[in-house]
Amino acid sequence: MKILIIGCNGQVGWELQRALMPLGTRIVLNSSNLNLVNPDAIRKTIQDIKPNVIVNAAAYTAVDKAESEPELAMQINGVAPGVMAEEAKLIKALLIHYSTDYVFDGTKSSAYNEEDAPNPINSYGRSKLAGEQAIQAVDVNYVILRTSWVYSQRGSNFLLTMLRLMQEKETLRVIDDQIGCPTWARLIAESTAQIITKVGYEQKYGEFESGLYHLSSAGETSWYGFAVKIAELAEELGKSLRICDIVPITTKEYPTPAVRPMNSRLSTVALTERFSLKMPSWDEALSLCLCLDGLK
Ligand SMILES: NC(=O)c1ccc[n+]([C@@H]2O[C@H](COP(=O)([O-])OP(=O)(O)OC[C@H]3O[C@@H](n4cnc5c(N)ncnc54)[C@H](OP(=O)(O)O)[C@@H]3O)[C@@H](O)[C@H]2O)c1
Repeated sequence: MKILIIGCNGQVGWELQRALMPLGTRIVLNSSNLNLVNPDAIRKTIQDIKPNVIVNAAAYTAVDKAESEPELAMQINGVAPGVMAEEAKLIKALLIHYSTDYVFDGTKSSAYNEEDAPNPINSYGRSKLAGEQAIQAVDVNYVILRTSWVYSQRGSNFLLTMLRLMQEKETLRVIDDQIGCPTWARLIAESTAQIITKVGYEQKYGEFESGLYHLSSAGETSWYGFAVKIAELAEELGKSLRICDIVPITTKEYPTPAVRPMNSRLSTVALTERFSLKMPSWDEALSLCLCLDGLK
């Protein structure tokens, strides 16, 4: 099996390189090999490589910056996935693509499932929803995985920001009224490997149906709860931190250019049923991430 990984330097893309290793030959591309603002380059790359599976882990992920660069975010997140889908269809490849909890407005009082109507409230969310729709408009074999609050030991994410700040500051103020679920990039990548394997089996027996699924860890917390757990685990692992006080604050007390949904919880019932994937709790996964990969 030939697998094309687009966005190999990102949090999820990096983990995919290892997780998909047992499945076949991987061809990995970063933004210098393939710039997603160029549709012709996307078309040519896919037709030259002719992969069996395309995994698109590349995205414009700067949520606040997307408010001032909506066209660029739309080109990368909204238009490029549709071009990938058209090219995947021509060569009968499977397209795996990632989306986000930020397609929702966050007003639901329980976890979002796949049937809930999206209603993005920021530019990033609108661009990611456009990407989902662009893929779904093409008659291609696809799996779209919406995930949330992604962290890993590389790149730019809440875990690494908190670990840095906790070494520099005695007090931190962290938002406590946005609820969601931190998800380790490695969990996403390893789940993707399982999904590709299952899809291969389904395709062999003519049972495959394209679909969109929610993929996050189990459980829920706030950014404040996430920060407290990071401090707890870091101390348990012997990291010396300056932090003495983590103060819960409201979203109103920490204004950002992009509005965020207050409820980002995603139900993974459909994912578990279809792909036999049971998600670990977010704090268990966080503990594993810090133990396995060490502390920066
Ligand atoms: N991060 C989160 O909290 C979060 C939450 C929900 C969903 N998601 C989704 O999960 C997926 C993976 O996210 P992630 O956190 O792994 O992202 P990430 O770490 O920010 O990496 C994104 C990658 O996209 C690549 N990229 C950006 N602009 C590009 C362009 N014009 N052409 C080609 N590549 C470009 C970058 O490549 P270079 O490094 O080579 O420049 C970068 O490595 C994305 O679809 C994202 O929307 C993320």
